[in-house]
Amino acid sequence: MLNIALPKGRLGEKVYALFERAGYPFAGMLDNTRKLVFVNEELDMRCFWVKPFDVPVYVERGTADIGAAGKDILMERNPDVYELLDLEAGKCRMAAASREDFIDDETRTLRVATEFPNIARKYYASLGREIDVITLRGSLELAPVLGLSDVIVDIVETGTTLRENNLKVITYFADLSARLIANKSAYKFKAGIITEIMRRLKNDRDN
Ligand code: PRP
Repeated sequence: MLNIALPKGRLGEKVYALFERAGYPFAGMLDNTRKLVFVNEELDMRCFWVKPFDVPVYVERGTADIGAAGKDILMERNPDVYELLDLEAGKCRMAAASREDFIDDETRTLRVATEFPNIARKYYASLGREIDVITLRGSLELAPVLGLSDVIVDIVETGTTLRENNLKVITYFADLSARLIANKSAYKFKAGIITEIMRRLKNDRDN
């Protein structure tokens, strides 16, 4: 049986729609229930919802053979998996942002609030900038507004959240979207089916 991990939430629903269109439906997957595991006996496949940050864990450890994860999460966790395909769903960008009136004093340590400490450290290290990372779990926009941090490193899609909180983008530094990933040994031992799924998803994406 092939096991598929999808991220629970808006992005996962978009990705599931791609699987369904490609010929891999799982009955009840989009019903708003608390159920997490769905089996398609005919396809000999099992699909489950996991927290977006946890998809790479399930795939790296082989509990899931393949999965879909946001590029942000892959950059943050850097899992030992194959990234097979850009599914081009949920396109957005990683950005550094601040209050509109923020003026950077480069001689001072920059206080950075983020859900992505590794991404933030790597980005500012590339600029040679010393930072103090403050890890939060969402609603990051609050941090500079209330003075907890100087800047945030966060996902920007439409820019509405920033605008409504009087924040501005300093720089965009990564393009993000959902990626199809595979466990390394599953990719070897279940190559036929994984390649076929990849081919169909790619075909659907490009047409
Ligand atoms: C993300 C992100 C921003 C927002 C950006 O949050 O953290 O807050 O979307 O989107 P926009 O540019 O279209 O306004 P999400 O809604 O995923 O919730 P979170 O704050 O819990 O991470």
